[in-house]
Amino acid sequence: MTARAPLVVSPSDWYPDRAAELVYAVFTAPECLDALAPDKIQRVAVCNDDVVGFIAWRRAINYLYWDLSWLAVDGDWRGRGVGRVLVEYLKAHVIQYGGSAIRLETPEDSDARPFYERCGFELAHVYPDYYDAGRGTCVYTWRNPSYRLVTVPESAAESEG
Ligand SMILES: CC(C)(COP(=O)(O)OP(=O)(O)OC[C@H]1O[C@@H](n2cnc3c(N)ncnc32)[C@H](O)[C@@H]1OP(=O)(O)O)[C@@H](O)C(=O)NCCC(=O)NCCS
Repeated sequence: MTARAPLVVSPSDWYPDRAAELVYAVFTAPECLDALAPDKIQRVAVCNDDVVGFIAWRRAINYLYWDLSWLAVDGDWRGRGVGRVLVEYLKAHVIQYGGSAIRLETPEDSDARPFYERCGFELAHVYPDYYDAGRGTCVYTWRNPSYRLVTVPESAAESEG
């Protein structure tokens, strides 16, 4: 069986208990509080009425930059495309709102790094010793290919200067 056929993405508050159960199964307690906090937008991946994935994000006040804050797939469902569906959902949301980029941070030794790279994220920075000596963190970025920078024509810039 694959997850691809009946997988839908829904607001997490349609499945509050199951969403929290999945988050608490994957992350530590302080991380869970942050993932479920109301300053973020949360969505779940649902298959046959079962919550199999969770994603949370937030945007900068100017809508330009979006942070992928938390992503979790149920252990039994990993490797079936659920994480990719959730990331593609976020990308579509960012494109819809005219955002320029999604950023995320994940530990240097995280198993999720190849996943993010397969989903089109590029390594932007590595901060060595961020968590502990020898354990750094990585910042990845995905850039919206349909985003266009508005450039000021030279003549206009001169007259303003
Ligand atoms: C990371 C995580 C979200 C990936 O979700 P997933 O549903 O298993 O990933 P998918 O099946 O959608 O994989 C998408 C692609 O990434 C690849 N991939 C996924 N995990 C990978 C891994 N550990 N190593 C290498 N490639 C991986 C898949 O092969 C697939 O490639 P392809 O479609 O281009 O062939 C999931 O493993 C998870 O919840 N991990 C624990 C929590 C976590 O680490 N969260 C992220 C940090 S906050």
